[in-house]
Amino acid sequence: MSNKQSQRLVRAAQKAMKHAYAPYSQFRVGAAFLTSKGELFSGCNVENASYGLSNCAERTAIFAAIAQLGPKLNIRAVAVVNDQGVPSSPCGACRQVIYEFGPDATVIFPTAKGWKESHITELLPEGFRFK
Ligand code: THU
Repeated sequence: MSNKQSQRLVRAAQKAMKHAYAPYSQFRVGAAFLTSKGELFSGCNVENASYGLSNCAERTAIFAAIAQLGPKLNIRAVAVVNDQGVPSSPCGACRQVIYEFGPDATVIFPTAKGWKESHITELLPEGFRFK
């Protein structure tokens, strides 16, 4: 990812984060990704009083893209941000969902040492696939 493209993704994720519905954890998350065709999608976390039903920002963004574009989605790069300024990489469930639509995706997230870019297979070795 060029600096310019990762910055664009981080900014889009920060914008989406403002829409988060997180009254239980108070941990607002935003995610934004670029498809291989150059389209940009974003999402935020949406919690529920039945806590386990909460949806992460990454999956909100991916499911919204599928709903809009149809099932042929290829994720090139995804950025994830939170409003607490703390290190946070995508949860395990979201790694698997990112891998489904982006087996070669770059994942951009905040660490204690600043922004990190990792390949999805570094975050999710041996992800599950039907083949
Ligand atoms: N969350 C995300 O949206 N993405 C992640 O990668 C980790 C966790 C959300 C889920 C929940 O609403 C809140 O952060 C606290 O776990």
